[in-house]
Amino acid sequence: MVLSRRYRLFLLLFALAAPGAFAACKSKQAPPREVAGGDAERGREAIKKYACGACHLIPGVEGAIGKESHPLWGFANRGDIAHVAPNTPDNLIKWIRRPTDLDPRTKMPTLGVSEQEAKDIAAYLYKLNGE
Ligand code: HEC
Repeated sequence: MVLSRRYRLFLLLFALAAPGAFAACKSKQAPPREVAGGDAERGREAIKKYACGACHLIPGVEGAIGKESHPLWGFANRGDIAHVAPNTPDNLIKWIRRPTDLDPRTKMPTLGVSEQEAKDIAAYLYKLNGE
């Protein structure tokens, strides 16, 4: 009797807490990430210029079908960058400019991307939300 009452209480608490937990989960999957001063269209051009697509599959960029590394499909929904840093605009700009600053052992090369170009590329990658 005591147990089943506890169990009912548990069910009640779960029913109350679950929608909140699911909502939190959902908002984690699609955080709004804006890159101040970044232009996604210019970013697409910069991605072509630096041939990021030689190693990555990048949706919407002609010829970007590389298989050396992670496809960047749905990148906006990822929680981290290459498992080394939280996926924030600042970290992404750093990563694009000098990946070894965040992970000294990464195989991704430093390609000489300017600050502005990195912002533009970040704005483009944050449009990739898997839809
Ligand atoms: C020579 C191959 C190569 C090129 C060119 C390259 N990358 Fe990468 N990139 C990698 C590798 C390898 C990783 C995985 C990092 C690791 O695990 O160390 C990576 C990781 C990433 C990640 C993190 C992906 C994730 O799922 O967390 C992003 C974002 C990224 N690259 C963007 C770019 C952009 C933008 C360019 C062009 C400016 C570019 N890469 C050019 C090899 C490359």
